[in-house]
Amino acid sequence: MRGSRTWKREVAADAIAGMSAYLAWSQAAYRDRQIRNIEDMSLLSAVFGRNCPSFGIWAIEADLGRVLADELERRPRLVVELGSGASTVLIAGLLHRHGTGQLISIEHDRRFADATAERVQELGLGERVRIVLAPLRRQLVGTTWTSWYDADAVLDAMGDTKIDLLLVDGPPAVTRWSRWPAIEVLGSRLAEDGVVLADDGRNRWQRATALRWAHDHHDLRLYWLDTLKGTWRIEVSSAPESDLKRMLRRARRRINPTPVGFARWAVPR
Ligand SMILES: C[S@@+](CC[C@H](N)C(=O)[O-])C[C@H]1O[C@@H](n2cnc3c(N)ncnc32)[C@H](O)[C@@H]1O
Repeated sequence: MRGSRTWKREVAADAIAGMSAYLAWSQAAYRDRQIRNIEDMSLLSAVFGRNCPSFGIWAIEADLGRVLADELERRPRLVVELGSGASTVLIAGLLHRHGTGQLISIEHDRRFADATAERVQELGLGERVRIVLAPLRRQLVGTTWTSWYDADAVLDAMGDTKIDLLLVDGPPAVTRWSRWPAIEVLGSRLAEDGVVLADDGRNRWQRATALRWAHDHHDLRLYWLDTLKGTWRIEVSSAPESDLKRMLRRARRRINPTPVGFARWAVPR
């Protein structure tokens, strides 16, 4: 009897020790992300000076700003973002510095569209960015009913140039599939080596969205960036992937979709 009680106590103590170790580890991982975010903030502040956009809360975090800055080094011709604000100022500012590239910023809310337009004009970035007001409309995309930007307005704004970089940071993620139409509507407009960055990747709906994109589109490769809010990076790839590779990817995704500690480079998922 006494032996059994001791045994149970030992199991309970081991379980508590395991849980504490896990908590300490995830706190350390969170602290790491915050430190990297601060590093990225100081880096971007050094570039933008007093015109540095305010990051965080509704806006992108500085670490995603740094990822965007790295992407823009590829000198994209056309960048499209869904959801305007700090990211608009950052992207337009860097395109302006590089002296090449255009940004189309899609916004559903007139107040934010106007405020962002005013800010980019103030900073003299007007010629690099076009802000397009596209109100949210309940619509059937593929087989899914969802409330998304008026798809006709979005497609009309695009013209013929292929999208080199697409940032998915809107509309506000208020329902499971609110951001899912992004690739369904704009996927065919992505350049051959186009890249999609989807913010708020830790949100379970955004995670479901990214996994659904990867599941439904075999020409897309999914990667995880362990940023503060979590970033999904999706690359268009024309190289076919073997069934075995795809199976392994799927298994890795199932076991651990959002691995810790790789904010600076993309982990295949
Ligand atoms: C996640 S925010 C997009 C932010 C934008 N990409 C940026 O970096 O600032 C998505 C949408 O939320 C709305 N929004 C932005 N700031 C907001 C605020 N402070 N309160 C409520 N809605 C906001 C805007 O309509 C925006 O398009």
